[in-house]
Amino acid sequence: MVNETLSHPFLLQAGDLNVDDISLIFEKARFYLQKFEKDTKKLEDLKGVTVALAFFEPSTRTRLSFELAAKRLSADVFTFSSSTSSLTKGESLLDTLKTIEAMGVHMFVIRHSCSGVPNFLQQNTTGIVINAGDGKHEHPTQALLDAFTLHRYFGDIKGLNVCIVGDILHSRVARSNIVLLNTLGANLGLFSPGTLLPPKIESWNTRIFNDINDAIKWSNVVIVLRLQNERMESGLIPSVREFSKYFGVTYEIYSKKPELVLLHPGPVNYGIELEYTVSNYPNVLIQTQVTHGVYIRMALLSLLAKNLS
Ligand code: CP
Repeated sequence: MVNETLSHPFLLQAGDLNVDDISLIFEKARFYLQKFEKDTKKLEDLKGVTVALAFFEPSTRTRLSFELAAKRLSADVFTFSSSTSSLTKGESLLDTLKTIEAMGVHMFVIRHSCSGVPNFLQQNTTGIVINAGDGKHEHPTQALLDAFTLHRYFGDIKGLNVCIVGDILHSRVARSNIVLLNTLGANLGLFSPGTLLPPKIESWNTRIFNDINDAIKWSNVVIVLRLQNERMESGLIPSVREFSKYFGVTYEIYSKKPELVLLHPGPVNYGIELEYTVSNYPNVLIQTQVTHGVYIRMALLSLLAKNLS
């Protein structure tokens, strides 16, 4: 029998996954993708499992794809939304999480604006916690679906040159991608205003570019990120227009190397980090990333649920 056990019974950060874990998740995601591309409507892999989607921050892709993933595997799913909860009446975060747990929840998918909340919850529950994005810290399932997209496109990630472009300082996607793609043997580059690079960047095992043309020339893949205004302190960039002019990916830049693969975790702010015309290129895989997100999350839920039996 194939060993389908991940090395940790939770997913809090990309560093929780080794190469074997990632291969197992990819294999399972490919299995579900092939099954559902044919005609399967529903499987029973999570029958009897209750999944809580605890979102304390807005989300479209992550929340809906986790919901669809859990439902396709026959889990019982419910969504918690902070703005309509008793948090507004003064209930604490821990009491809120304990209340949800008391309803018989087995798995928590959690998004929060504070870094470390998923780790805090894992320390206070016997359930399985999946980090769906915590503050500026990590977004490991986004990194998994990004890597799965590259794996399906290129066949192998080892040796690929991947440059992350944009607001890296505030990006949990950048942090998770750097860790996960490093684990898989990719070379990482960063192109960003100096004020939007994290401190101690030299310890990240990445190459820093100062010119977009050099970055594009070096890259097989660019991952473009939006400006995270909701996390941004003032004064980090002179203006959005100036950021767009020097750090945005335009048709003029992209058309010089149309074989370049472009990813964006979404939501995209067209006209700022990415010119809309670029989105029509066949190597711009933004919608493929969204599709893969469902299968990666099905794979992850089903593999982690093996710790329940
Ligand atoms: N990529 C991502 O996390 O998108 P959402 O905020 O829409 O979930």
